[in-house]
Amino acid sequence: MKIIAYGIRDDEKPYLDKWSEENPDVEVASTGELLDESTVDQAKGADGVVTYQQKPYTAAVLDKLGSFGIKFLSLRNVGVDNIDVDAAKRNGIQVTNVPAYSPEAIAEFTVTQLMRLLRRTNTFDRKQANGDLRWAPDIADELNQMTVGVFATGRIGRAAMRIYKGFGAKVIAYDIYHNPELEKEGVYVDTPEELYAQSDVISLHAPATKENEHMINDQTLAKMKDGVFILNPARGALIDTDALIRALDSGKVGGAAIDTYEDEVGIFNTDFGSFDKIPDDRLKNLMKRENVLVSPHIAFYTKRAVRNMVFFAMDANKSLISTGKSDKLVQL
Ligand code: COI
Repeated sequence: MKIIAYGIRDDEKPYLDKWSEENPDVEVASTGELLDESTVDQAKGADGVVTYQQKPYTAAVLDKLGSFGIKFLSLRNVGVDNIDVDAAKRNGIQVTNVPAYSPEAIAEFTVTQLMRLLRRTNTFDRKQANGDLRWAPDIADELNQMTVGVFATGRIGRAAMRIYKGFGAKVIAYDIYHNPELEKEGVYVDTPEELYAQSDVISLHAPATKENEHMINDQTLAKMKDGVFILNPARGALIDTDALIRALDSGKVGGAAIDTYEDEVGIFNTDFGSFDKIPDDRLKNLMKRENVLVSPHIAFYTKRAVRNMVFFAMDANKSLISTGKSDKLVQL
């Protein structure tokens, strides 16, 4: 059995080597290159493909895999929004993801960024760098006095809720699907509008779908409390960036932590050498603001998460090839 792993980064390599050692029955090929039309031919002869990238898995790529007889594509991440579903289906390609490599990693980072916003650490860091050690006017807010509205209560949303509760915040949530445990606790509100109206902080944990593209926009922002904090460790497409900038300008939004950005592909996880060379003016607009924390999609980036992404995706691919089954199959 042969599996080819695409887009393997240096930090993933030791985990892939370890997995290979533990699975001597599998021939593992790997490349640092992403899976696209220029690299897909490397998959010829493999039984399965393991990959992670934010770049789209296009119809052309999936048709090529289909023509090589490859039916198993295992993603090392959660999100499946970059897959051409029709092409995967027509080629009979089954897709697995890693739904829980570490929900806690993302939740912990999200709350870290919120605490930084509330305690104005970005502002104090910038002041101190200029020798200004004064307190005023940067007086902070306390999370234990706030209501946090969690949008989507999947594994990551629930992990974030546990931490918010630990800080003593009031936590409410909206999701189409109600988690039975949370339902018993009575945390759910019935509509997104109720969440917006009641929350001091909106914590986004939804996958990107056609329906929720730009769910944070001029209209929905207008329904939120003045000075609301917006946290997006989920998907850039959830936020209309121009609307967010307008709301930051007006003070409607008091602060934002943006770990995902709608135009991040090709920008995040790249070294441009200097701030000025970052080729995205909207992103730079956000990055210049003291009350906005931009981070390059790093909420997931912990040793445990990266290890699990490699191991769980390789396990899933092997299982699909050898048994036709995996508990990580995605319903496309
Ligand atoms: C995902 O798992 O879908 C993520 O967003 C993290 C990604 C950068 C690997």
